[in-house]
Parts: sequence; structure tokens; C-alpha cells
Amino acid sequence: MTAAELMEAAREARRLSYSPYSHFAVGAALECADGSVYLGANIENASYPATNCAERTAFFRAIADGKREFRAIAVSGGTGANEQSCPPCGVCRQVMREFCKPGFAVFFSDGEGGFETFTLDELLPCSFGPEHL
Ligand code: THU
Repeated sequence: MTAAELMEAAREARRLSYSPYSHFAVGAALECADGSVYLGANIENASYPATNCAERTAFFRAIADGKREFRAIAVSGGTGANEQSCPPCGVCRQVMREFCKPGFAVFFSDGEGGFETFTLDELLPCSFGPEHL
């Protein structure tokens, strides 16, 4: 799947968002090494810290389904129908770090109708991972 196709899947996944508190709807599309794609959305909670981000929803769905190798993730977020810049939060970067290689590709909406492209290593340099334990 191309980066643009994965971003389109992430945009569609925003419809799955449960975000009655922030109204900031985030969708994610995670591509596994076998080519399968898992969608995720943010799931908020009346106890705000219990909220789960879209990226982690996608990862946890895939991991619970037995997937362990991943190629790329796309993320789209914004208020209502308005797509804004939406880089992954620090907690989600660390979850990616657990399962992905440094070159894992991360695409996220830039707020101008396009998307930005980074590797995981660029987004989380000098990171702590499984090999440190
Ligand atoms: N959110 C995500 O889903 N992913 C991110 O990487 C950043 C933030 C969600 C969490 C919350 O539901 C809303 O966006 C506002 O913070």
C-alpha cells in the first residue's frame, strides 16, 4: 500500500473515533509486514487519563490478533471534519518502539491537506527498548 493510500485509510478511520470530550477525532491505519491493515481510533473516557489514542488502538488490535511485524502507520486527526496537524503523542511513540524497527515509517496529517513523513527513529531518538532489559 502506498503512503497516500494508508493516509486515506487513516482519514476514514476517524469516523470510528469516540471523542465526546475533546471533539478531536483521530484515525490510524497500521500496515503489518504481511500487508494486512488494522484501523484504530481514539477512545476517550469520562476519566480523561483512561483515554486510548488511535495509534495504540490500531497496534493493540493488531497485536491481539497475533501480528508482530509492522511496516508503517498513518495518522489523521482534527476537530470535527477539519483535518489538522496530528503528530503521534509520546506514549504512542514508545508503544511503536516496542514492536517496530528504527526505520518504521510514520505518516501524519500536516493540517494543509497533505501529510508529513518520518521514521520512528527520527520521532523518538535515543530511546529505551526491549534490548535494554
Ligand atoms: N490523540 C490520539 O488519538 N493520538 C495522538 O497521538 C494524539 C492525541 C487523541 C487523544 C484524545 O482523545 C484527543 O486526541 C485529544 O488529545
